[in-house]
Amino acid sequence: MIKGEQIYEGKAKKVFATDDPELLIVSYKDDATAFNGQKRGTIEGKGIINNKMSNALMRLLQKHGIPSHYVEELSERDTLVKRVKIIPLEVIIRNISAGSFAQRYGVDEGIVFASPTIEFSYKNDALGDPLINEYHALALSLVSKEELETVKDLAFGINEVLKSFWASCGVTLVDFKLEFGRLSDGTVVLADEISPDTCRLWDSETGKKLDKDRFRRDLGGVEDAYREIMARAEQALGEEK
Ligand code: TMP
Repeated sequence: MIKGEQIYEGKAKKVFATDDPELLIVSYKDDATAFNGQKRGTIEGKGIINNKMSNALMRLLQKHGIPSHYVEELSERDTLVKRVKIIPLEVIIRNISAGSFAQRYGVDEGIVFASPTIEFSYKNDALGDPLINEYHALALSLVSKEELETVKDLAFGINEVLKSFWASCGVTLVDFKLEFGRLSDGTVVLADEISPDTCRLWDSETGKKLDKDRFRRDLGGVEDAYREIMARAEQALGEEK
């Protein structure tokens, strides 16, 4: 597979063309941003960890019937994926109150919800990814009604698989963000990444944060937390084989 020209550079990844128009290569960087790019830094080794973890989780999800853009891990930082048109919605599932939810509603972090919640943000950096409801997303033709139903079903299904996977690692899946895309035939699949950048992961015993909140909130031990969560995932994945 030939790594062709760079066609996009995001905050945490670069995307390259290949010799197959249906396939792209994503390359994970160590760059970290928060608060819509206002806070910037580097988390050494993050790109390698996020690449490996996201791929392992997408393989796990595929075993559970969740379709994704994932094709093949090419190297420490590079992965072959199917080309998709990203649906411009960030899909956020929450099992426990934290982050912007706790802030918006003036509640403590750590409230365990009776059932998971879903919300959407409109992917638009200039606007700071504002919260959007389903009717507004339909009104703006960001997604079709049928696609929205598929996205919701997939997102809640993904939550069940990931919750039990992380529980087997002694980790509580608090919340996470997903993105979906359309293949050339219109099929909706999971895209982007699932990693400590895009999930809140708390040690089930101690509540220690093992995710990007250590960077967002200047908690220290960022690299160690990424290494620890990867080691736990690898151990559980090893046992599953
Ligand atoms: P929030 O509580 O800040 O809304 O974040 C909810 C989840 O989404 C959390 O696991 C972090 C993740 N997230 C992203 O992956 N990208 C983002 O830009 C934001 C704001 C959150």
